Amino acid sequence: MDKQVREYVKSLLSDKKGHEIDHIDRVNKLALSFADELNADKEIVELASYLHDVDDYKLFGNKSAESLTNAKDILAKLEISEIKQNKVLNIIKSMGYNRYLEGVRPTSIEGMIVSDADMCDAIGSIGIIRAIIFGEGMNRVFFDKSIHPKTTDISYEYKQIKSEHGVQHFFDKLLLIPSIMLTEPGRVEAKKREKIMIDFLRRLFEEENSDIWLKYLESFIKEV
Ligand code: ADP
Ligand code: NI
Repeated sequence: MDKQVREYVKSLLSDKKGHEIDHIDRVNKLALSFADELNADKEIVELASYLHDVDDYKLFGNKSAESLTNAKDILAKLEISEIKQNKVLNIIKSMGYNRYLEGVRPTSIEGMIVSDADMCDAIGSIGIIRAIIFGEGMNRVFFDKSIHPKTTDISYEYKQIKSEHGVQHFFDKLLLIPSIMLTEPGRVEAKKREKIMIDFLRRLFEEENSDIWLKYLESFIKEV
């Protein structure tokens, strides 16, 4: 792939906490391995991996998200057909957890692959690290056993606001991700990562002697 694309993306995301180039590189690598298994178009997978966050509404605002300004700018610099450009743009438009909450999912195999790889990067060991870093940035405690689990049904609005307690974020979003994978290699990878998160949380609650959180975890994983 054009080395320049990575450089453009790297500079656009250089100050975007949690979505820097290391996230993009990991998503690309995982997506390419899924593409290999599924015989998908690797050029599309690679471009969509690199461009999937450059117009994220959280990072660049609604205007950019609606018109995909940055992705279109970068694609225009490349010598690729309009058909391919549109394939990539359609993938970017249909990705992300919020789109999923709105009922929108990618329809092409390449889109499913990049979406699964992006979601995998929010879970497992990397997911734990990213959740801790995110909490630090927001000056939020990661785990405080005196804060009780939020057991009532979590509304769409609440999910948008984001969990205030680091550990709660696992129950609001991260532990739900493995069940919404769209490809078989995505499901296999997410399952491995799910186990790491559950083991981590279980041990954390045991070490902290928190029966309430332990019970919450055990009943939660029975349901998902
Ligand atoms: P994405 O765009 O990949 O869905 P977000 O911008 O929502 O991700 O979050 C970036 C990273 O920070 C992810 O790994 C996510 O799990 C983590 N994160 C988001 N919200 C929270 C939260 N309330 N507590 C802890 N981690 C969070
Ligand atoms: Ni992403």
